Amino acid sequence: MVDDLVRTPAAVADAERWTAHNYHPLPVVISQAEGAWVTDIDGKRYLDCLAGYSALNFGHRHPALIAAAHAQLDRLTLTSRAFIHDQFAVFCQGLAELCGKDLVLPMNTGAEAVETAIKVARKWGYQVKGVPANTATIVVADGNFHGRTTTIVSFSTDPSARDDYGPYTPGFKIVPYGDLEAMASAVDETTVAVLIEPIQGEQGVIVPPPGYLQGVRDLCTTRGTLFIADEIQSGLGRTGRTFACDHEGVVPDMYVLGKALGGGIVPVSAVAADADILGVLSPGSHGSTFGGNPLACAVGAEVVRQLSTGEYQRRSAELGARLHTDLSALIGHGLIAVRGRGLWAGIDIDPSLMSGREACERLAEHGVLAKDTHGSTIRLAPPLVIEPAELDWAVERLAAIL
Ligand SMILES: Cc1ncc(COP(=O)(O)O)c(C=O)c1O
Repeated sequence: MVDDLVRTPAAVADAERWTAHNYHPLPVVISQAEGAWVTDIDGKRYLDCLAGYSALNFGHRHPALIAAAHAQLDRLTLTSRAFIHDQFAVFCQGLAELCGKDLVLPMNTGAEAVETAIKVARKWGYQVKGVPANTATIVVADGNFHGRTTTIVSFSTDPSARDDYGPYTPGFKIVPYGDLEAMASAVDETTVAVLIEPIQGEQGVIVPPPGYLQGVRDLCTTRGTLFIADEIQSGLGRTGRTFACDHEGVVPDMYVLGKALGGGIVPVSAVAADADILGVLSPGSHGSTFGGNPLACAVGAEVVRQLSTGEYQRRSAELGARLHTDLSALIGHGLIAVRGRGLWAGIDIDPSLMSGREACERLAEHGVLAKDTHGSTIRLAPPLVIEPAELDWAVERLAAIL
């Protein structure tokens, strides 16, 4: 990259040497971070406009979250779910109330929470809806990204995520994203759930047509099937509301949450639903050694407290409007499309200029971190603590490289 990076090339080579190549990271080796900024091992600073794919909505090392983690580290870190600990109910109640649901089931990674939602939906289908044994289906959207387990990649339409991992888990029907008619045709008496992202992040921040989420809600209600919203990336303030579903005033039957729920400190995920759904689980039917551990719950409870003030949702909405206005002005000047909501944008670079990867490498040289997805598309998702002037600066840097 740039000449003044002295220690970086060797550190990049070491990382390449000692790990499987399941990622293609930008050659930036980060050693410190605070707020919206990170510093690499050569002392170069970058404005973080990816925010850990929205896992860092509150920025790096948010003081209240770090304090909650420190306090918990000094008292109790792990019990397993064989016992109850004093942070468990605090977190579960807080998150249940934030979601407007009766119950919460904490897990660790996003993929585990999606797996949990799939298992709960199937059990609900057999025990409550009366679907004949082993025939349950779940309707999903093409272009989805719900994680990396063998079951989840079974219904991925991305060859790089799916190929050579068969045999695949049956029981999923894939319909075009945004197409209500196709979804209505796919739902039948075996359908236990519709599982979608209210905005498809990994696919390039794809916002569905207006009325789609409401249509999915109505369809699920009239056909007696669960609406599961994977808000792992779109939720917890990212779009300017607590949940992306809020933009259409839609309440799914189950929220699937992760990423920012761990405050950028620990992996914390969860599903939230009412008792008639999550109540199908009984002791031994599902679990996780680390899910809902004391450190995770202490941090997660503080995340919920931060979100309950509404400040981050407001910041995301206001700064997001500014971001989208400024990015739209670049259409025809190197950008061909801009999509998104709140502080979340998918931008398509004119492919005749450069690839998304090249654009991200140049942005990094100019001190801005972002990540490409699918060809010439880049995702921008800065921490919600970013200042207006910093946001302007990032867009200026983008304009400069274009
Ligand atoms: C919408 C969505 N669901 C699920 C996941 C998987 O989360 P994790 O990587 O924590 O397993 C992701 C991760 O990017 C995501 O964006």
